Amino acid sequence: MKLLIRPDADSAAETVAVLVSAQLRGKPDSVLGLATGRTMERVYAALVREHRRGRLGFAGATSFNLDEYVGIAPEDPRSYRAFMDAHLFRHVDLPPHRRHLPDGMATDHAAEGARYEALIRAAGGIDLQLLGIGGTGHIGFNEPLSSFASRTRAVVLAPRTRQQNRGDFGGDADAVPPRAITMGVATIGESRRAVLLATGSAKAEILALAVEGPITASISATALQMHPDCLVIADEDAAGRLR
Ligand code: F6R
Repeated sequence: MKLLIRPDADSAAETVAVLVSAQLRGKPDSVLGLATGRTMERVYAALVREHRRGRLGFAGATSFNLDEYVGIAPEDPRSYRAFMDAHLFRHVDLPPHRRHLPDGMATDHAAEGARYEALIRAAGGIDLQLLGIGGTGHIGFNEPLSSFASRTRAVVLAPRTRQQNRGDFGGDADAVPPRAITMGVATIGESRRAVLLATGSAKAEILALAVEGPITASISATALQMHPDCLVIADEDAAGRLR
């Protein structure tokens, strides 16, 4: 695991965007693993800017998002599909048939997990996986005590995660779906390269545990310490508790 500290959230996000751009320039048919969430908004804004300047193309790429809420349809503005449309997909040339998210409306979650894993395998695996980190230490929606062997599956969200994400649901944590379908810790661990972005002082404590603490299923992000090529990019606020 390598660590890069940038002065602020904008420059941290810019750095992630530079890495994604370099990945796509080096391998235009890259398979990207994408994340949603507030942290990623700046990254996608930077990627869209690069695309508009004609310096970045997604035409050969394929994407797989980490997760989607159970019971939320893709056209629902609160879905992660809608987030991706708003922040990235609508603005770039990534072909629609190669933009993948788990199907939150699937009724057979085990089958949906298997389908998603098979799609990732058929695409040749994930070249570059973007990650944020939740207050519980989750990556994707792998809440504490997710097995490090876990694969794409339905999970129950921690109360703290539903609190964290209540903004998209009228400020009401109880309105946040209780479950999601997420790539597993093992799915994420198989990505060839992983980049975790953390910004803001609210992430400082959990980032220090994730990067410097013992490897434990109580904090899924600690699995990244065993990843062969993982870069953690933090702004100074998020890096504030690192030793
Ligand atoms: C989102 C995801 C989550 C978020 C994490 C941080 O697809 O998988 O792990 O990356 O909850 O969210 P923000 O960036 O909103 O703090």
